[in-house]
Amino acid sequence: MPGEKSTTEALRKALEVFRGPASTPVPTDPYEYQRWEMAGAHALFVHALLSIYEQATTIPPGKEVDFVGYALVWAATLEHHHEWEETRYFEMFSHKYDLRSSIVTEHAAFHGGLVALQEYLVSCLPAGSPYGFGDRIAPQ
Ligand SMILES: [Fe+2]
Repeated sequence: MPGEKSTTEALRKALEVFRGPASTPVPTDPYEYQRWEMAGAHALFVHALLSIYEQATTIPPGKEVDFVGYALVWAATLEHHHEWEETRYFEMFSHKYDLRSSIVTEHAAFHGGLVALQEYLVSCLPAGSPYGFGDRIAPQ
């Protein structure tokens, strides 16, 4: 697959960036704790995306729907994380930092790609398949 090596390398590099701060003992300083926790969450997102990317071309027959479900859960979890950051998390620090505007811009930069991925994944489900937490139904 064209670009596979560079995508894998980029994801592994990002994973190492987040693993570093997330691999320390639990900080007692409340601001360091936030950094530690967020690094762990982001390491989880990157690690899961790497696993989706690496497995995508080798899904055993009969496991395609399960894999699509796994990828949809990843996308929904990331979407929820971004919504939570934008509406709740960064508001807690707004008296000290202006993180929200830059993060919202960053999230917006790849939101369209995330939506496109979700639409593609749903299109891979058998017609009428339930998916998501609201029991949405794949198109007939
Ligand atoms: Fe985050």
